[in-house]
Amino acid sequence: MALKFDFSNLFEPNISGGLREEDLESTKEKVIEAIKNFTENTPDFARLDRKWIDSVKELEEWVVNFDTVVVLGIGGSGLGNLALHYSLRPLNWNEMSREERNGYARVFVVDNVDPDLMASVLDRIDLKTTLFNVISKSGSTAEVMANYSIARGILEANGLDPKEHILITTDPEKGFLRKVVKEEGFRSLEVPPGVGGRFSVLTPVGLFSAMAEGIDIEELHDGARDAFERCKKEDLFENPAAMIALTHYLYLKRGKSISVMMAYSNRMTYLVDWYRQLWAESLGKRYNLKGEEVFTGQTPVKAIGATDQHSQIQLYNEGPNDKVITFLRLENFDREIIIPDTGREELKYLARKRLSELLLAEQTGTEEALRKNDRPNMKVIFDRLTSYNVGQFFAYYEAATAFMGYLLEINPFDQPGVELGKKITFALMGREGYEYEIKDRTKKVII
Ligand code: PA5
Repeated sequence: MALKFDFSNLFEPNISGGLREEDLESTKEKVIEAIKNFTENTPDFARLDRKWIDSVKELEEWVVNFDTVVVLGIGGSGLGNLALHYSLRPLNWNEMSREERNGYARVFVVDNVDPDLMASVLDRIDLKTTLFNVISKSGSTAEVMANYSIARGILEANGLDPKEHILITTDPEKGFLRKVVKEEGFRSLEVPPGVGGRFSVLTPVGLFSAMAEGIDIEELHDGARDAFERCKKEDLFENPAAMIALTHYLYLKRGKSISVMMAYSNRMTYLVDWYRQLWAESLGKRYNLKGEEVFTGQTPVKAIGATDQHSQIQLYNEGPNDKVITFLRLENFDREIIIPDTGREELKYLARKRLSELLLAEQTGTEEALRKNDRPNMKVIFDRLTSYNVGQFFAYYEAATAFMGYLLEINPFDQPGVELGKKITFALMGREGYEYEIKDRTKKVII
């Protein structure tokens, strides 16, 4: 079933000071231009090339030999894998026996160079039945290169052939990793050159580990394809992505510089992380397309309901009215637990109720409280967590990000602000061709 979007609480009269339909009119032309542009010059991420699935499926016979897939990638080369793993597999998937997993692989994602993280994953795997999927579009990201070297070193130290245990996912032509593929004959997958890291979850970047753990990748593409089709509709009330972009744009103009995404499902945690990267890295820009300084963007914040009701909601209800809140609401959970009747009068209201009923009531309660406090909020409703629905979610938010970039007149597909820190790190690590000296500050405040 298709995702549903409820935008009601972004508007007057549900919240006072909210948007009016006339407000949409002022920017409607520009959004329609963005939609036309999306339709006529479909970005590569929305093409959903059949080759992306086919190339992954060609490796199906090989991957069944492995009990575990360890993804080594960072940012857009890791978050999509995490989002797929958590939203479409049970939370205890990696603790299940192979039989309980119907023969499909466990999937770990190492998306940092934290030795505690890497070591904890290495402690839990049997190298003989592990496949490392090294993902880097540029083929040179320091964190991924370090983790690739560690995986390779450990395989060699244990007398295993790295070529039988490492898959490389990178640019078809460029970069160090492609060179390794060409020179040493590793199996590989291609990151489509026109698709940026954070937009690549529906390419082989996300599809391989998903297939390995038994996620239906055809259905994932079906959901995304249907959603991208809907993104071409010029009627804003038929086009969720355009509506997300337009409403967030208008609220940003009114000073709502924070976009909170609050999921009422632990399995959706990494969908929110994925969104956080997409919105932050794509829209947070110093310069617009004309080269003028604009310092734009909307800070995305992650929250999980009901947990964060006990840490964040006080601020959202009564602190600065500078946020637009998006709820992710899951109507039907894969598992259910009935709260037992303890016989105590004080707990009667909970007795024999479904645990999910309580969680959903918490979502409704929080939404209503925010509405009463005139805090703009919207809701994405999943009937279930299926590949189809998750595919739609990715597609709608990728398109919304492109539309938002169009409205802000910035390039949502680059990330110049990430580069300086990367270069300084290379220099500090002594990489040839990179020099940077951290000058002594005249003022030091070190306590
Ligand atoms: O979205 C992006 O472009 C980034 O988050 C990249 O995915 C991230 O920096 C990793 O880059 P690469 O895949 O080149 O290793």
